[in-house]
Amino acid sequence: MGEVDPAFIQHPEHRPKLSIIEAEGIPLIDLSAINSPNSISDPEAMERIVREVGNACKEWGFFQVINHGVSSDKLQKIEASAKKFFALPLEEKRKIRRDLNNVLGYFDTENTKNIRDWKEVFDFDVEDPTLVPASPDPEDDEETEWTNQWPKYPPEMREACQEYAREVEKLALKLMGLIALSLGLPEDRFKGYFKDQTTRIRLNHYPPCPSPELALGVGRHKDGGALTVLAQDDVGGLEVKRKTDGEWVSVNPTPNAYIINLGDTLQVWSNERYESTEHRVMVNSEKERFSIPYFLEPAHYTIIKPLEELINEQNPAKYRPYSWGKFTTHRKLSNFKKLNVENIQIHDFRI
Ligand code: OGA
Ligand code: NI
Repeated sequence: MGEVDPAFIQHPEHRPKLSIIEAEGIPLIDLSAINSPNSISDPEAMERIVREVGNACKEWGFFQVINHGVSSDKLQKIEASAKKFFALPLEEKRKIRRDLNNVLGYFDTENTKNIRDWKEVFDFDVEDPTLVPASPDPEDDEETEWTNQWPKYPPEMREACQEYAREVEKLALKLMGLIALSLGLPEDRFKGYFKDQTTRIRLNHYPPCPSPELALGVGRHKDGGALTVLAQDDVGGLEVKRKTDGEWVSVNPTPNAYIINLGDTLQVWSNERYESTEHRVMVNSEKERFSIPYFLEPAHYTIIKPLEELINEQNPAKYRPYSWGKFTTHRKLSNFKKLNVENIQIHDFRI
């Protein structure tokens, strides 16, 4: 990526401010009490964590966790593979380029809100193959499979990715348990939705950009799934839109922490007790940046709607039911063209 092509240039109101506010950051939650063997015997610590998670979900939709139990060795391995892979010549990476028939693999021309992102990515699914609807058309019952595409080099990448996925899955499901408890629901309330999950992991590479004041690594967006578990390196650039005043606040890298953010699916399930939060990524002119989001997403046949336990006459459902599979295929397949309209949003199902 050389000079900034007009396709990358953000509208003035969405351009990043290079002098960012160093505000009080998103909450940091220490999970050591639930990761130690005697956690069951410490109900108070558990209650405190559930309360912290609930407050963070309500106030920010974003938080960081430390002592999360994910092996740092597995993270280092996937990070090392990502570096080697993105350093390959473009024509080598494009051998596993994503297209309309296979939405998994390498991609360097993604748009967010119809503006090009200053990044390249490698996507793989945790379930391989992943069962999905053949098309976003609600009348079409046909199913298809998405399969991962692995590069020849580096040869260890496939194993590094698969092992990392299994590690993070444990954390993601544990967090869903804490979130369920914080909503007054049984810890395993969400578990069943992930049996045939469509969960995806993305390796992001943000190269240095000659005009970081004009472009974004990822434009403003919300994640569509249940929640995201993000590993970022020490460069920084992620910004979160603060709920209280709409200001963009930077998420400074914390060593050995994961960043957790709620997706649209949880906003609907919780009938807006919790909301997903808009975020974006700034780039810079000197340093490349790597990050690895794990997007926890339900089975394609899941009908997403506010949970029965959380609605009543005073607090009726705010969303009509919709199919996760149709919603996500609509989004993923439309990635390949620059639309003239905003892509499908949960707002389209708001009552
Ligand atoms: C994303 C995302 C953040 C980051 O890929 O959806 O928000 O820091 N990434 O890379
Ligand atoms: Ni995101």
